[in-house]
Amino acid sequence: MYEEFYEKLEQLGVVPVVVLERVEDAVPLADALHRGGMDSAEVTFRTSCAAECIKAMSEAHPEMCVGAGTVLNVEQVEAAAAAGAKFIVSPGYNEDVVCRSIELGLPVLPGTVTPTEVTSAINHSLKVTKFFPAAQYGGLSTIKALCAPFVGHRFMPTGGISAANLEEYLSYPKIIACGGSWMVKPSLFEGGNFSKVTELAAEAMAVVRKVRG
Ligand code: 3PG
Repeated sequence: MYEEFYEKLEQLGVVPVVVLERVEDAVPLADALHRGGMDSAEVTFRTSCAAECIKAMSEAHPEMCVGAGTVLNVEQVEAAAAAGAKFIVSPGYNEDVVCRSIELGLPVLPGTVTPTEVTSAINHSLKVTKFFPAAQYGGLSTIKALCAPFVGHRFMPTGGISAANLEEYLSYPKIIACGGSWMVKPSLFEGGNFSKVTELAAEAMAVVRKVRG
């Protein structure tokens, strides 16, 4: 299940975690990420315009893999699907969110930091989950320990990842991709200038190419 999406996620290497307060910023942000070679975005449902932003970004950049983040309930899964989201990410593990995403055929990456949560995900045939907040839950060391029993399982760590430790995370083969907000912080494009986003996205993608070839 979701093999094609997992392959895509591995190629992407980094998924920017986006918090958008204004729909008007959605397409310029997608433009800036695309210019930096980062063709994905996890648009979080922390703001009321998330679904609209997903729709706008997907329409302007059909080549980009735009998904929904911070998805906490079934209503948000459905709103994300209707907006054209290509994947669903949750900070934690919620059975209803996982089941509804699977029913809709949407790849879902619930947050899992314990063996119990990883087991729940695997019992739904999920081969990749988010690991959040990565730094606080022990980072790579915890991920490596979890990977011992869960052979075949892979993680997308998010939380505390930056240009400084991206290479270390990506170098571990069980890391399919890393999530992070460091290249899309709202303060970077406050004045409507998105060039810093492009610069940081390009820098991160250079690390992905270095590690993945
Ligand atoms: C998330 O929602 O996944 C995090 O807020 C992203 O973490 P970061 O800001 O440490 O990159």
